[in-house]
Amino acid sequence: MSNTELRERMVATCRQMNATGINQGTAGNLSARCGDGFLITPSSLPYDDMCPDDLVEMDFEGTYAGRVPSSEWRFHRDILQSRTDIDVVLHCHSVYATTLACHHRNIPAFHYMVGIAGGTTIRCSDYATFGTQELSDVALRALEDRLACLLGQHGQISLGRSLDQALWLATEIETLSRLYVQALPLGEPPILSDEEMTRVIDQMQRMSYGNGPEPEGSNDVARPRN
Ligand code: 13P
Repeated sequence: MSNTELRERMVATCRQMNATGINQGTAGNLSARCGDGFLITPSSLPYDDMCPDDLVEMDFEGTYAGRVPSSEWRFHRDILQSRTDIDVVLHCHSVYATTLACHHRNIPAFHYMVGIAGGTTIRCSDYATFGTQELSDVALRALEDRLACLLGQHGQISLGRSLDQALWLATEIETLSRLYVQALPLGEPPILSDEEMTRVIDQMQRMSYGNGPEPEGSNDVARPRN
């Protein structure tokens, strides 16, 4: 994808973050790997006012060209640098995920879809001040072997190979958070066993569950008609 197309698609993804209700105001930020570095949203610019040229080019040393980058450039850089399995980092303050993060609650395997983040829980990180290296460090720890985490008293981070995947995952994390918040007043829901979650995650990986068209032959339930 060309630099121009990536910029256009990043702006479209930012606007979708607001349109789907997972973000509001100038909260949230988005980055995508590009060349030897990455593109990242500028700080404090409402997405409706943002145009492709406003996206900021950064390298992994933390130098930038253009507008002032998101205050969270450190965790975007550190995640993109250490996680070669993903190319997009999406951060937002979606309401239900942030509600759980305000109580520092991990999301346990109360529903099989928790497995989409890659493990038996979706972790919540410790609290650290926004825009700091400390926040980046705790986020990286919470994301170990995972594609998403909650940020203590702050919000959520979702990762993806593509902008669509990261947006899809962030929306799923918000839906799971909402279900968990709604289930909790009825009592702590039963938790699926580690053995079952291993089966779920294995099945999800085999079927590329939720990640777009399945590779041929990966679905063992149905066969396409000739
Ligand atoms: P920026 O506008 O600097 O990206 O900050 C928004 C935010 O969500 C901080 O965590």
